[in-house]
Amino acid sequence: MPDVIDHDIVIIGSGLAGLRAAISAASVTNGKKLNIGVFSKVQVMRSHSVSAEGGTAAVLFDDDGDNKESHVYDTIKGSDFLGDQDVAERLVDNIPFEIYQLDRWGMPWSRRDDGRIDQRKFGGYSYPRATYAQDKVGFYEMQTLYDTSLKYDNIHFYNEWFCTSILHDDNNFQGLTAIEMKNGNFVKIKAPAGIICTGGAGRIFSFSTYAYSSTPDGLDMCLRAGLALKDMEFVQFHPTGILPSGILITEGARGEGGYLINNQNERFMLKYAPEKLELAPRDVVSRSMIQEIQAGRGFEHESGLECLKLDLTHLGDEKIKEKLAGIREIGIKFSGVDIVDEPIEIRPVCHYMMGGIHTDIDGKTEMNGLWAAGEAACNSTHGANRLGANSTSECLVWGRITGEVAAKYALSKKESSSGNISITLNNQQILDEEKRIFDNIFRGRGQVNPYEVRKELTDTMDAKAYVYRDEKSLMEGLKKTRELKESAWKHVDDNSKEYNTNFTNVMEIDAMLRTAEIVLMGAINRKESRGAHARIDFPKRDDVNFLKHTLAYYKQDGPVLDWYPVTFTRYAPVERKY
Ligand code: FUM
Repeated sequence: MPDVIDHDIVIIGSGLAGLRAAISAASVTNGKKLNIGVFSKVQVMRSHSVSAEGGTAAVLFDDDGDNKESHVYDTIKGSDFLGDQDVAERLVDNIPFEIYQLDRWGMPWSRRDDGRIDQRKFGGYSYPRATYAQDKVGFYEMQTLYDTSLKYDNIHFYNEWFCTSILHDDNNFQGLTAIEMKNGNFVKIKAPAGIICTGGAGRIFSFSTYAYSSTPDGLDMCLRAGLALKDMEFVQFHPTGILPSGILITEGARGEGGYLINNQNERFMLKYAPEKLELAPRDVVSRSMIQEIQAGRGFEHESGLECLKLDLTHLGDEKIKEKLAGIREIGIKFSGVDIVDEPIEIRPVCHYMMGGIHTDIDGKTEMNGLWAAGEAACNSTHGANRLGANSTSECLVWGRITGEVAAKYALSKKESSSGNISITLNNQQILDEEKRIFDNIFRGRGQVNPYEVRKELTDTMDAKAYVYRDEKSLMEGLKKTRELKESAWKHVDDNSKEYNTNFTNVMEIDAMLRTAEIVLMGAINRKESRGAHARIDFPKRDDVNFLKHTLAYYKQDGPVLDWYPVTFTRYAPVERKY
């Protein structure tokens, strides 16, 4: 492999957004094929998207009165009015096409008796909209997209490549640096267009549904290239993570009729959300659960953590095996509980970051030639709280949009250079990056164990920035994070070149520390409660002072925060009731 590779478009990340973007870009040819490279630190089918369980939200039928405007409004209300309204409209308008497109590509959607695609209830929606394939939606969507992508000979997969930085000149994207993990080579990749699809940052918490690989490498590459992260203080805690692992029990379980109980055997959601009950949005349900626990009505799990229980026993063996087979298996293997026979212990768990790389409605970042899609991006679809099943929708819709826009941009560059795009890389940038990763990290002299730093960081985030926060807990979290960051921890024990995961782990921890600092600073700065950001010391939403997005840049001396306006189309903020 040469130490410089050329592509017309590079896509970083091979989950749902990355694959959809690759297929979309490969289909825009204008008579010429673009040369597309998909770089992933894992093998494609190990991308975290495979673990999406419950559904992809879309309005497919109007049988019971469902309509697009209702999906738009549910999304905006769910976002606690911080979502950009034009973006929610774009999502809702585009997602039905994606559902049928996947169907044509072979997606095994679950079906009704009449043969039509089935949809189940999910939290915060007025109608059943979660389009599903049993309870393994992400796996089947990924398999369908991966199979489809293999039909294109102009999509090249680089599995197990760890991208380390964005190369740019005068705010124009030029490519990437990366390490080919199988041999440890440091490679430069030139391309006029790039799309970041590296997923969310939820592994900055210990109790998390995310794969261990879901670290904020892509977000951090953007920060280091001078770009902003947006709304990072909004972290979603999904109500039903099993203990002690945090593995997800899909909201589809409640969509199919499961309910939550406390240690008095009460269906406590009757008190908190009398209309929607367990199918209120996740922020509402998670806060209700913590209130129950704090009132002494939780169960004590053998791990020492307090929890509640999800009861599915009344659904019966047949329905569970047909619709929830995956979570039944998870319960048996990871909790020792068969949900057919007994309620399962669960607790709110870090599941999604509403924030991400700041983009416009087309997924374009602040750098020419660079887009972001999926959970890595914050195009502001979800505002302060995402509705379940709207994430896979976002990945598909903005995977397609960014793939298409980036392809048109790359084609125009090709045409204006008579097919020979010439990119002159900035050597100083490459030297700086080599120094950062090889001198400061690989040959670092730190004495503290980096894995202990990672554990302390993620435990701190669990303790200080969980469902409820206040100034004191957040300040303590920030102080600890900065102490960890500044301690002498950067070093790699493994000296080998091939598959040096010790090296990549330490680069991941570096990114986690910077990202956690931004989450905490954003949370301290937002002195109100909105969506998933619940401040005990500022319990009310404050539209006068905080109906705006947070931006965070990383400067020489650390993060600098700014504000950015929310886009409104038709819906004035009102109090959320469920
Ligand atoms: O509960 C779930 O199946 C998760 C879905 C989502 O986060 O969209």
